[in-house]
Amino acid sequence: MRKPYVAGNWKMNKTIPECVTLAIELREKLPKDTKAAVAVIPQFLALPKVAEVLRGSAIGVGAQDVYFEKNGAFTGEISCEMLKDAGAAFALVGHSERRHVIGETDAIVRKKLEALLKSGLEVILCIGEKLEEREAGKTQERLSIQTRAGLEGLAKADLAGVTLAYEPVWAIGTGKTASTAQAEEAHQFIRGLVEELFDKSVAQSLRIQYGGSVKADNAAELMGQPNVDGALVGGASLVADSFLGIVKGA
Ligand code: 13P
Repeated sequence: MRKPYVAGNWKMNKTIPECVTLAIELREKLPKDTKAAVAVIPQFLALPKVAEVLRGSAIGVGAQDVYFEKNGAFTGEISCEMLKDAGAAFALVGHSERRHVIGETDAIVRKKLEALLKSGLEVILCIGEKLEEREAGKTQERLSIQTRAGLEGLAKADLAGVTLAYEPVWAIGTGKTASTAQAEEAHQFIRGLVEELFDKSVAQSLRIQYGGSVKADNAAELMGQPNVDGALVGGASLVADSFLGIVKGA
């Protein structure tokens, strides 16, 4: 049985003190009997302090991005070792805002994913189609391209450090959520593809989160789908009670 995994991507929000306050509130309020794995993903500068506040708690801490080189002349970038040093246990790669606002390619996303695994950090690989792709009947094609580019050729053992997040671009920050049927269909397709690329056991153990306007009132239904193993939450993770409402739904 896959343990549900709920992560709050705080994106480019909150000052360092605001991140610390939210982390403390989550630490104090997270029920002891929570069944899901829970993590938060603050902005880089707040990461060390948030990690310090959450050390020893049941809440993990990750980074929103990483660069694949170790060090050197890469102005503005942050390496895997720097993330580890700051207290991160994982990082997102290929978030749609990086792909579509910053212009990251599948090839860059792959390099980042490999660098993270090599350095012993876990990865949440985000994939998802744009609205025009869905409307043109190209959802599966896009998911297939992104999943293959991200995972094909990795060792089976590497997959233990990978979570996928299906985030339809049209559902992110829009208040529009994929229906449970749309989410389940996409997740089932992705799991089938992973089985094709690796094997049944890898596909069955892989966690696939759903992201895109997840709220406390739709979380339980979405995560109740057989192939939806948790949530990657943006807006609703910025307030402790709404995020914890989602965690409760897992
Ligand atoms: P929203 O929950 O704000 O739609 O954001 C989803 C997301 O992008 C999480 O990574």
